[in-house]
Amino acid sequence: MRVVIQENYQNMCAWAAKHIADRINAHKENRPFVLGLPTGSSPIGVYQELVRMNKAGEVSFANVITFNMDEYLGLPHEHDQSYWYFMHDNFFDHLVDMKPENINILNGMAEDPEAECARYEEKIAACGGIDLFMGGIGVDGHLAFNEPFTSLTSRTGVRALTTDTRIVNSRFFGNDPEAVPAKALSVGIGTVTDSREVLVLINGHNKARALAATVEGAVSQKWTCSALQLHPNAIIACDEAACGELTVDSYKYFLDIEREERL
Ligand code: GLP
Repeated sequence: MRVVIQENYQNMCAWAAKHIADRINAHKENRPFVLGLPTGSSPIGVYQELVRMNKAGEVSFANVITFNMDEYLGLPHEHDQSYWYFMHDNFFDHLVDMKPENINILNGMAEDPEAECARYEEKIAACGGIDLFMGGIGVDGHLAFNEPFTSLTSRTGVRALTTDTRIVNSRFFGNDPEAVPAKALSVGIGTVTDSREVLVLINGHNKARALAATVEGAVSQKWTCSALQLHPNAIIACDEAACGELTVDSYKYFLDIEREERL
């Protein structure tokens, strides 16, 4: 696993956006590049930088298919806290050449949510699998909505959210945890780790415990993000603030080995 430590959030986002753009630009296969995407506050700076690069002609999304990680169960597209709304508001609507038909987001209003999840897995496979999955994690280490003790081989399905996650996410729902949907549709840990490359953003003091568990802890379903240790091409992009619980020797090791990546 690589851990690229940047001085602050802005540099973490700039590095991650360039990495994604480089991968899209280097894609030579005779099929579109398939990109997995997260929501949350962590990726917002990456989306802003990718939009800037797209408008400047530095990266095109004309040959990119996207699959989002998750969606709240029971929220329609037009709900301002649906992940469909978030993605269009923060990213897709600002790209000059993203094709709407290439955007895939789990339908939180599907009549049969399990069938919707099975359809999603089939569509990912039909597109040739995911080339690069960008993710973020929750303070409890959840990747997409795979809370602690979700199987590390899980596939896309319906997930119950923990009370802690509903409390954390209530900042977007008028600070009312009860207003946060209790369930979500989410790709599985296995869906993410099947991707050819995984890039996870971890920033801020409140993620320090999760970063240490991801990088230094045992591979365990208690910290679902720790599954990334078994992936051949996993990268954590983080800021200094998130490194507070790493041991000093790990911190120094990653700064040393990734010194050319430091912005
Ligand atoms: C939500 C999403 C996750 C995201 C997490 C962290 O729970 N389902 O995919 O990674 O929030 O969000 P933030 O980046 O705002 O800390």
